[in-house]
Amino acid sequence: MAAPDRQSQRIGNPVHRPVLLREVMREMELSSGLTVLDGTVGAAGHSQKIWQKIRPDGTLIGLDRDPMMLAYASTKLRSDAADAQRIILEHASYADAASVLESHQIDQVDRVLLDLGLSSDQLASDDRGFSFQATGDLDLRFDPSRGHPAWKMLQNWSETELCEIFEEYGEERYSRRIAAGIEQHRQENSKPLRSAKELTEIVLRSVPSSARQDAKKHPATRVYQALRIAVNQELDHLRQALDETLPRIVRPGGRALIITFHSLEDRMVKAAFRGASWQTTQTGPSKALKPISASPDEVRLNPRARTARLRVAIRA
Ligand SMILES: C[S@@+](CC[C@H](N)C(=O)[O-])C[C@H]1O[C@@H](n2cnc3c(N)ncnc32)[C@H](O)[C@@H]1O
Repeated sequence: MAAPDRQSQRIGNPVHRPVLLREVMREMELSSGLTVLDGTVGAAGHSQKIWQKIRPDGTLIGLDRDPMMLAYASTKLRSDAADAQRIILEHASYADAASVLESHQIDQVDRVLLDLGLSSDQLASDDRGFSFQATGDLDLRFDPSRGHPAWKMLQNWSETELCEIFEEYGEERYSRRIAAGIEQHRQENSKPLRSAKELTEIVLRSVPSSARQDAKKHPATRVYQALRIAVNQELDHLRQALDETLPRIVRPGGRALIITFHSLEDRMVKAAFRGASWQTTQTGPSKALKPISASPDEVRLNPRARTARLRVAIRA
C-alpha cells in the first residue's frame, strides 16, 4: 500500500462517523473485484466497508488533501497485510484523480465516492483552527503544505472582498457587519487576527443579538464555512471534478456518488448529474434530481448528518 503514514505514530483513534453509510453501500451496488475510488477517504469510514465488499480481487484507491487524514486511513485499512497491495492511498485532490490513476496504470474505475467537506477529526485538531473555539492558529487548510493559512488571508483581503466571500460562500446575512468588524479589529490592533477564538468573538460582537440566540446554528458557522471554502478553493476543485475528472475516469455504466453539506455544492452536483455524461440510477425515482438524506435515527446519533445530501448518477 502506498501510504504516507509519517503521522500515524501520533494519531489516536478517529472520532469521525461516516454519514449515510448504509445508503452509500446500497447505492454503490458493490461486488468482489470492482475498482473503487474514494476521492475523500478521510478516516476511511466508508472505505473500510467498501473494501470488505470488493476484496480480495478489487482495487481501492483513497485520496485526501490532508496528510493527517491519510495517516488515519492508512492505520485503519492496513489491518490485513495480505490484501494491502490492492489498496492505494495518495495525497492528492480528487480533482487530480485522473493523473493519480494514470500513475498506477488504471484507466477507469467502476465507482467513485466523494464525501465533501470536513472530517470530525480535522474539527477536533485544535491547531488547525476548524472549530469556533480553537485557540491555535486559524489555518483552515486541508493541505497545510500548500497555499496560505486563513489568518494570513484575513490580513490581505479588503473589507469588500471579505464581504463578498461571506456572501458568496457562506450565504451569510450579516456579511457587511462582520467584514466591518474584522476591518475595525485590523485598524485597532497592530497584531494580526490569528486564532479561531478571536474571529468567533468578532462575529459574535458583529451580529445582532437575535442571531446570537439561534440555538440551531452557531452564528459563526457560515463565516467559517465561507473562509474554509475560499482558503481551499473548494468549489474550483468540485467544478473541475464534475466537468472533467469524473466523466473521464468513471467507466460507462459505472457510478458516481457525491455527498454534499451545503446548497452551493449540492446545486453544482445536481446540475452536473443532469448533463449528458450521466444517467440517473435505474431503480426507484430519479436520484440525481432527488437527493437522499439521513434518517431521523442517524441525525439523532450524528447531528452532522442533518445537512448531508447524497446524489447518485450512472455514467452514460
Ligand atoms: C467528510 S471527510 C470524509 C470522511 C470519510 N468518508 C470517512 O468516512 O471517514 C472529507 C475529507 O475530504 C478531504 N478533502 C476535502 N477536499 C478534498 C479534495 N479536493 N480532494 C481530496 N480530499 C479532500 C478532507 O481533508 C477530509 O478528510
